[in-house]
Parts: sequence; structure tokens; C-alpha cells
Amino acid sequence: MKFFVDTADVKEIREINDYGLLDGVTTNPSLILKSGRDIKEVTKEICSIVAGPVSAEVTATEYSEMMKEAAVLAKIADNICIKLPLTLDGLKACRSLTSEGHKTNVTLCFSAGQALMAAKAGATFISPFIGRIDDTGADGMELISEIRTIYDNYDFKTEILAASIRTVNHIKQAALIGADVATVPPATLKALVKHPLTDKGLEQFLADWAKTGQKIG
Ligand code: G3P
Repeated sequence: MKFFVDTADVKEIREINDYGLLDGVTTNPSLILKSGRDIKEVTKEICSIVAGPVSAEVTATEYSEMMKEAAVLAKIADNICIKLPLTLDGLKACRSLTSEGHKTNVTLCFSAGQALMAAKAGATFISPFIGRIDDTGADGMELISEIRTIYDNYDFKTEILAASIRTVNHIKQAALIGADVATVPPATLKALVKHPLTDKGLEQFLADWAKTGQKIG
């Protein structure tokens, strides 16, 4: 499973990239707002940190306007992936951009039927929003499972990018189902390494090691 980080905070991106754990980045208009920075400037900086795909989202809702915005975003760097909403205009733009050789990420996916449409439009990634489905009382993970089955049934190459991940359990469940990518907030990604028995065991080893009076090297 590939790990993307879901943020436009360059400090966080640098830190996780330095651990060697990062395969890409996803941003959206809300995350750009949170960064307090200009979209082109911050996206360019993110693209210079991370070698993998960096999703930058269009904000137009009509096809030709989306294409104009996509052209501006695509010029930022070679690793830009154009993020488009799951609407008919978004899917049309996805088809055009895919045909032009751009990477695309179709976002705001809340049903398996929508995911099927995105695959038909040639999306590089589909972004089902797990947490927001859970918020409604339904099971977001069930959607990941349905999309996995449909994509495997027809050998669609579109990658399932599990988004709106809120917990470490979301990451584990998405991996068990076979999502190709998880895009995760930095704190949740770092929390994945934590286990109380790891901390306790390390504490014990260090205490016993100190008692030996030895040093390595
Ligand atoms: O990138 C989109 C998605 O991950 C948003 O997550 O927590 O705002 O539902 P959230």
C-alpha cells in the first residue's frame, strides 16, 4: 500500500518524507485554506519535496473552466496530479486530461457507481471518503470493498486512494481490503507506528542495557 499524506503543510510533509515513508501528497481547497498560502506557491514547494504524485484540485465546476485551471496547475511541476470532483463535467475533464497524459484524481466519491464512472473516465486515482461516510452512520470501509471488487471484476487500472481517513484502524482495514493508496493526515500516519508494548519493551531493554555497563562502538 502506498502512503500519501493529506495536507498542504510543508513542514509536516518534509518530516514524513525524511522518514522515507512518503509516496505522494493530496491537497484540497480546505487544506490550502488551512495552510494560509498561495495555491501555486505552496503546491510548487510540495512538488519539490516529494517525488511522487501531488494532487492539486481544480475549483471550477464547468468543463472548459476546469480544463483552464488544470492547465495552470499542470505547469507547476511534472509530478502534479489533477484532482477533479465527481461530477459529469469533472469526469469529462478527467477523460480529456488522461488522454493528454496527465495523472488524475477523481475526488468526493461516496458510491461504488461513482467509482465505476471514474474508472470508465480513465482516472489514475479514485478517492472514496471513508470518514465522511462513517460520519453519516454508514460504513465507509464497505465502499472500499465494493470498489475493489468492481475494479478487479473488470481489471480497471484506476487505483483506489482511500481518503478521509481518521484513524489508524481505517488504514489497517483499507490495507486488508486491498486499497492501493491511503491518504492520511500526518498525525494519523505517525500514530500508525505506535504500540504501548513497543514502548514498554523498549523501556525494559534500555534499562537492562544500562545495567550491563556496556557500550556499542
Ligand atoms: O483529501 C480529502 C479527504 O481526505 C478529506 O478528509 O477528514 O476532511 O473528511 P476529511
